[in-house]
Amino acid sequence: MSVPPPIVELQSVTKHFGDNTRPPVLDGLSLQAHPGEFIGVIGLSGCGKSTLLRLLAGLTAPTSGRVLIEDHPADTTSAERAFIFQDATLLPWLTVRRNAELLLRFRRLPAAVRRERVAQLLALARIGHLADRYPRQLSGGEKMRVSIARALVLEPSLLLLDEPFAALDELTREHLNEELLALRERQRWTAFFVTHSVAEAVFLSTRILILSAGRIAHDLPVDLPFPRTNATREHPAFHQRVVEISRLLRDTAA
Ligand SMILES: Nc1ncnc2c1ncn2[C@@H]1O[C@H](COP(=O)(O)OP(=O)(O)O)[C@@H](O)[C@H]1O
Ligand SMILES: [Mg+2]
Repeated sequence: MSVPPPIVELQSVTKHFGDNTRPPVLDGLSLQAHPGEFIGVIGLSGCGKSTLLRLLAGLTAPTSGRVLIEDHPADTTSAERAFIFQDATLLPWLTVRRNAELLLRFRRLPAAVRRERVAQLLALARIGHLADRYPRQLSGGEKMRVSIARALVLEPSLLLLDEPFAALDELTREHLNEELLALRERQRWTAFFVTHSVAEAVFLSTRILILSAGRIAHDLPVDLPFPRTNATREHPAFHQRVVEISRLLRDTAA
């Protein structure tokens, strides 16, 4: 069986900010990601996680090395990518429906197709009943659902999430984790998910990267079966993986 080509490839990527007197944020980092992988990215604050995501989004360029998405440089690729941040950044003067439709409006799709896709994504994100509300009328978790729907209406091949649920309470976060995995069953994007929570990374990911000193200190498979549910969180294999990876993270930081 032939291995499918990687959707993401980093070749010896180094990223410096400003002059070269400080060590680089990313230091000769190489990486391949294949379609359908869900890659959790963890590491101490300031270790370059957001920079890695921005490179993948084509929002910043490497100082040296190459960032390829579907074989094209990240700044010229036509691969659809969507970014989800901790702050939902909804436009306060637009309804939920209009916010979710926003990015599609730049895509020259017929209005009927746009409407259909938005309605479908709002339903999948369990906020169909909130379509006519304004952001100020939503809870934090609901806002984040709108942010997810807005990203996924693009039907991205690559989904970049930078600590999206960090500001939410634990139960809401758990619900959103499960819903994100349910959405992944529908739309087979490849995900990079930055988080400070090892448990969240283990729950979501097929693979976890621990970044340290500008490099990948550990590249770890998470082979817990899907679908992952509340039962997964109570499973000894889940706890064991969380303990192991937490220990590696602590050792890396020491
Ligand atoms: N635009 C920038 N200009 C200068 N320094 C930056 C810039 N963006 C990030 N950095 C620095 O790069 C390092 C990594 O930042 P970041 O990727 O945001 O880390 P993380 O997301 O892991 O917390 C930090 O030391 C940060 O100060
Ligand atoms: Mg960050």
